[in-house]
Amino acid sequence: MKPETMSPSNKRGKFITFEGIDGAGKSSHIAGVVELLRAHGLNVIATREPGGTPLGEKLRELLLNKAMHPETETLLMFAARREHLAQVIDPALARGDWVVCDRFSDATYAYQGGGRGLDKNKFADLEQWVHGHLQPDLTFLFDLPPSVAGERITAQGRELDRFEQEQADFHIRVRLAYLERSAASPQRIQVINADQPPEIIKKQVEDTVITRCL
Ligand code: TMP
Repeated sequence: MKPETMSPSNKRGKFITFEGIDGAGKSSHIAGVVELLRAHGLNVIATREPGGTPLGEKLRELLLNKAMHPETETLLMFAARREHLAQVIDPALARGDWVVCDRFSDATYAYQGGGRGLDKNKFADLEQWVHGHLQPDLTFLFDLPPSVAGERITAQGRELDRFEQEQADFHIRVRLAYLERSAASPQRIQVINADQPPEIIKKQVEDTVITRCL
């Protein structure tokens, strides 16, 4: 039987998230973790926020491109998340599949709390409402100076979204809010120095998944 078609165990699957400022270089490492888990015979759903459902992807389009009040932005992030949990994340975990997600609620604390300066205490109520039943089993925080991340984004030479267009001080606040969040949940959030060669990061990420999850 091919690993991909092995029947899932009757245990709840694990939920792994990736976070970091824009340009932190999460994408290729997310793909690496998905590949690693599949090679271990696990059914894996790779998804992202905002997005992950047809409605969520429509909200993503608005969130990344249309100007709006910071509280509207926060509520839409949580609305997309509610749909994502209902349609994708909760059913997958219940089936015993694993879910690897590019960003989750830590991003709201970092971007809308740190970046936009909204009161983070309000997010605790939204978080409880939307996913009081679930936190990620493991979160990777890709950390690096915003100046280095900014150079990477510029080198890609593509059109920038609303968040990427923000000034340096916004990204500095996002980074600090992420680090604050990781200091409050050191068991769950594994900080990775993302200003290192990709092969070193890959090894650190994979070793952590193997030790903590498999
Ligand atoms: P990305 O998927 O390309 O990383 O882009 C998503 C953007 O949305 C990124 O700039 C971070 C931002 N974001 C928030 O501001 N709050 C959130 O809760 C989430 C999930 C993402």
